[in-house]
Amino acid sequence: PGFGVEVVAEIDSTNTELMRRARQGITAPVLLVAERQTAGRGRLGRPWESAQQTSQPASLTFSLGLPLAPKDWSGLSLAVGLSVAESLDPASSAPVRLKWPNDLWVHDRKLVGILIETAVPQGDATQRYAVIGIGVNLGPREADGLRTPPAWVHEWRPDATPGALLSELLPPLVAMVQAFAECGFAPFAERFAARDALRGRDVQLSDGTAGRCEGVGWGGELRVQTAAGMQAITSAEVSVRPV
Ligand code: BTN
Repeated sequence: PGFGVEVVAEIDSTNTELMRRARQGITAPVLLVAERQTAGRGRLGRPWESAQQTSQPASLTFSLGLPLAPKDWSGLSLAVGLSVAESLDPASSAPVRLKWPNDLWVHDRKLVGILIETAVPQGDATQRYAVIGIGVNLGPREADGLRTPPAWVHEWRPDATPGALLSELLPPLVAMVQAFAECGFAPFAERFAARDALRGRDVQLSDGTAGRCEGVGWGGELRVQTAAGMQAITSAEVSVRPV
């Protein structure tokens, strides 16, 4: 589909805005890019900071909104992460890896966060509108008091602008989302495995279960070998267990 493109200087959150519109029945495919978000959101209700550096935006923040009807939604966030990782990787001095379900890591530091939400448009309960929100760290931010320092694109591409990055990420991303809608995650599982940041590592799940990560299955589930046997995890927070 053709996408409407909107670039705004400031907004609360590109995801929040597209979710608002979808609930009102505005469901045309759109790309919304914000130079600054005042209430950026991360997964699990966490904030996504986008404190401003001097003149350059510290991150590229955008959301892609489109009606989507995949047979199975599981794995969409993995497919989206894979596409972004593959686009960013060739220029990077270190491999861009995928931390299930959808963070991008460079040397275990977070480079990209992804928040996917779906809305049921008013008046049409048969449709789902997907809002795919992506935040790419470009440069260090003054507000970065995070426990683990993030990674940023300027480490290997000091001149990268949000616009240049966006034009590199977008075409493969749109193609990936369309391919996912038709074929699901399975055709991409091998490519994901090649970048899996957790496979072979000791991990801890949010419910306290610990185990060894055995990679990601064809449906996008995380496979963890625990004392109670192999578990297929479809939703949980996962952290790498300190050794
Ligand atoms: C996470 O790491 O928990 C997900 C972060 C997602 C951030 C992006 S920035 C663009 C879009 N708008 C938001 O409010 N969040 C997403």
